[in-house]
Amino acid sequence: MKPMCGIVGYIGPKQAQNILLEGLRKLEYRGYDSAGLAVYQDGKLKVEKAEGPLSALEERLNGQPLHGEMGIGHTRWATHGKPSDENSHPHVDGKQQFAVVHNGIIENYLELKEELQEKGYAFTSETDTEVIAHLLADLDDGDLVSTVRKAVARMEGAYALAIAHVDEPDKLVAVRLASPLIVGVGDGENFIASDIPAILEHTRDVYVLDDGEMAVLTRDGVELSTTDGKPVSRDLMHVTWDAATAEKGGYEHFMLKEIHEQPKAIRDTLAGRIKDGLVDLSQEISLSAEELKRFDKIHFVACGTAYHAGLIGKSVVEKLARIPVEVDVASEYRYRDPIITPSTLVVVVSQSGETADTLAALREAQKAGAQVLGITNVVGSSVAREADEVLMTWAGPEIAVASTKAYTTQLIAIYLFGLYLARILETRSESELAEATEALLKLPKQAETLLEDPSAIRRFAGDIAQHEDLFFIGRGLDHAVVMEGSLKLKEISYIHSDAYAAGELKHGTLALIEEGIPVIALATQKAVYDKMVSNIIEVKARGAHVLGLGLEGDDELGKSVDEVITIPETLPLLTPVLSVIPLQLLAYYTSTARGLNVDKPRNLAKSVTVE
Ligand code: G6P
Repeated sequence: MKPMCGIVGYIGPKQAQNILLEGLRKLEYRGYDSAGLAVYQDGKLKVEKAEGPLSALEERLNGQPLHGEMGIGHTRWATHGKPSDENSHPHVDGKQQFAVVHNGIIENYLELKEELQEKGYAFTSETDTEVIAHLLADLDDGDLVSTVRKAVARMEGAYALAIAHVDEPDKLVAVRLASPLIVGVGDGENFIASDIPAILEHTRDVYVLDDGEMAVLTRDGVELSTTDGKPVSRDLMHVTWDAATAEKGGYEHFMLKEIHEQPKAIRDTLAGRIKDGLVDLSQEISLSAEELKRFDKIHFVACGTAYHAGLIGKSVVEKLARIPVEVDVASEYRYRDPIITPSTLVVVVSQSGETADTLAALREAQKAGAQVLGITNVVGSSVAREADEVLMTWAGPEIAVASTKAYTTQLIAIYLFGLYLARILETRSESELAEATEALLKLPKQAETLLEDPSAIRRFAGDIAQHEDLFFIGRGLDHAVVMEGSLKLKEISYIHSDAYAAGELKHGTLALIEEGIPVIALATQKAVYDKMVSNIIEVKARGAHVLGLGLEGDDELGKSVDEVITIPETLPLLTPVLSVIPLQLLAYYTSTARGLNVDKPRNLAKSVTVE
């Protein structure tokens, strides 16, 4: 589910440590904050782990390398518990009989933890993973495979696991439930990995495990079965991709991969936050109803793409909760002497949670007595640690500099917050809230549909790649979305564009419209639809070449524009999640049409930690 931790496992004749470390290095692209290994050495499972980059782990191992031919390794992207040595994987039970690495989330871990604590098992970390090690110890029947089956039957959630047992050094077990896991088949050696690049240097023959399956690896063979014990037979897949393509899951660039990950990222960000058809954040936001009711204004503060999410946040929160909202770019906020009081809620939005200006704004707000809610994608980041309240986006690591899935999940977090606030403040009826929640839950599927056929966008991208100037226009929420669309295009295609509130054109910008200039016009907001069409006609009359983006079933828009792209219909308030996707693709295909470095555009950094 949520995280993108990296798993590797090795059993064979070679030194496991080096193979595991190399494998983890190939999984670095998934993002991580700590790493660890367990290797079978002299009748024991020896564990070494360290917070920080792989080099921190390597430094520790330099002094005292692990010698052994079987082991498991892990790079961790924190979810339960901050990044630290203790929370890093592998996790072991009290007697160090079982070692476990885990990617995913054990949803019933609290219940299992309490049960195990009552039986006297002592925990040394804050993770859900440690529960698995103790659970295995508790259910140990002397046979690794059958013990794993029993433990898995008790675990709910989505996970991939690699497990070793001290008494069975000739075996490794891999289990998959809804988190990716593959088994690499070599000659006299076998491998486990979250992703193909980790093992590509050693073998190109892999089994891709399906949900609910496990693999038992020995040096000489791999047996596949379902977790409840039925044998599975599967053909080996022979990988023909090169390592670089494999890292990107078969996509040409991380940005495209991340655009396509959005349905899953949205689903993950919604998961566990809706109960009985209504948004419930009471597990995550500790502010009581009385405290929430005390806020008389809200400030959204962020940079770049996250700032654009904040612009949507203003409309969402004002509409749903009827509290006045201001939105500021963080680098302005901290110097403009904003009016912050103890009844102000400051929402900082930051994918990385480390952006210097955003952090400074957070601290400024706290100094002035405000409560700060952080919306961030990185557990253990400065925003996650310093904000008074935190709402995570579960997009998984974002590698491409141009942000895509982080933005859509920030929007989801904002909708969840707006709907929760409206519920507590009783500013919307329960049926309205239920209707919006239902629509939210449909977004992942709708995003999937939208991603199916990019051919029309690709065509238009080929066209605008020839230009040096273009315009985005929209009204209301569409205006906020075109600001993000324009930023995406600038970042990776180096084409100058600007985003205008369509009604403002006639106050100046219209003077720039000339024959053949591309204009991208969003018309998804019913309340201002007719006005928007009039604006489109204004630019058409001056020779613009217009791409219109409207709602499915809109047969009118095509009459006023040159090309139309549609998005599935949802509530007007929710359209930004869908309408931004064609704009992300437009930027992507324009950049590739120009042969540019999509994932690492010139002069830009993924995380800006200096002012
Ligand atoms: C950089 C990135 C942008 C991002 C902005 C804010 O400029 O290139 O993609 O939107 O920082 O980053 P944050 O991590 O705070 O969301």
